[in-house]
Amino acid sequence: MNKNKDFKWGVTISAAQTEGAYKKDGKGISIWDTFTQKKHKIKDRSDARVATDFYHRYKKDIDLAVNIGLQIFRFSISWPRILPDGSGKVNPKGIEFYNKVIDYCLQSGIEPWVTTYHWDLPQKLQDKGGWCNREIIDWYTTYVTILRDNYAHKVKKWILINEGVVCIGGGYFLGVHAPGKRGIDNFISGVHHILLAQAEGFKVLKQIKGLEVGTALSCTKIEPYRNTNADKKAVNRIDALMNRLFIEPHLGMGYPVDDLPILKRIAKYYKEEDLETLKTNFDFWGIQTYTKQVVKSAWYIPYLRVIQVKPEKRGVETSVMGWETYPEGTQYFLERFSKYNPEKPLWLSECGIALSHNEDDQKRIDYYKKVIDLTQNAISKGVDVKGILLWTLVDNFEWAEGYLPKFGIISLDRNTLQRQMKKSAIWLKKYLEE
Ligand code: BGC
Repeated sequence: MNKNKDFKWGVTISAAQTEGAYKKDGKGISIWDTFTQKKHKIKDRSDARVATDFYHRYKKDIDLAVNIGLQIFRFSISWPRILPDGSGKVNPKGIEFYNKVIDYCLQSGIEPWVTTYHWDLPQKLQDKGGWCNREIIDWYTTYVTILRDNYAHKVKKWILINEGVVCIGGGYFLGVHAPGKRGIDNFISGVHHILLAQAEGFKVLKQIKGLEVGTALSCTKIEPYRNTNADKKAVNRIDALMNRLFIEPHLGMGYPVDDLPILKRIAKYYKEEDLETLKTNFDFWGIQTYTKQVVKSAWYIPYLRVIQVKPEKRGVETSVMGWETYPEGTQYFLERFSKYNPEKPLWLSECGIALSHNEDDQKRIDYYKKVIDLTQNAISKGVDVKGILLWTLVDNFEWAEGYLPKFGIISLDRNTLQRQMKKSAIWLKKYLEE
């Protein structure tokens, strides 16, 4: 890729996957703290009580990111660390911790970006229904106001909700993520409330001049298994669900009901003013993509009438996540999403590859080289891409997969908590220095 000095490189991490210190200094319990204690939810029976111990080792991690030459450090704030009960009393030690992280970034010359929500809802709010309770719009807005009042004078780039569709889909529809709820009504109400909350959170942050506020979208390319109308329609349904649901309502386009009629059920949770409230003029969009899915129509599957044809069945290699790694999605989504809102810049706010402990890290280098070329292709077609944030810095707690997938460019010894640069970190450092 031709080096453009305005093109930025950074890294993304999240609180629940890295911080540990799950009860320290007044932090409240999150839905992930609860979920990991339930039987058989996490593949390697692990939890994130220690994780990478970012809470105590943030300086080391920021130093590593700076040493590699990264310019952006995107991290998320743990809602229950700030508000142990989800609302009400603020935890001063929580406020102090993120002040320390932000200040250390600034003094080290790396730009801090804040994600306000990366899936670790306070358990106390889940006890009242979590994202299925419309009151969460107020709870979230109050939380964002606290973050704004404490950090907005120092942090200029904000991402509100990280991958709403994965958070609500995994946690409230499929039950494979915290809080482990299932069902279409949970999903539909959760989607509507999280989008409304995000729209209100945007207004709160934009009261401060000079902030750039965006959202991070999970994007998965969907392809038909067979060249039939039924499979093409199946693609449209899943594409609406996975790729359009979290952008179109914010653009004033409403929900993609035509392609995904089950969304009509949203009417149950809808108030007249919601269409207007949802409209949000984000300053930028974050694209996050890892894999693709091939689907076929299946009349016997409730609601969606679709099944996924797994990569193994198609003779395609999968990563330790059970996914087909698909760097090509970067160019595809950068081009596709730039058409929605051409005047707004895009970021690859996450991208990465999962390897198992015994795979050669050269695969990660090859993956990122591809991402660089594909991003360059998108830029040469006129797409305004500002930068790439890697997922992730240090191998961490990969949700229901535990510690088995290794997404980091730095490895973690889980006994000593020592970090060590992998081949890919060394390669990236060289690339960024050239
Ligand atoms: C999430 C991360 C996650 C990564 C890999 C993204 O969807 O934002 O939290 O670890 O994908 O699964």
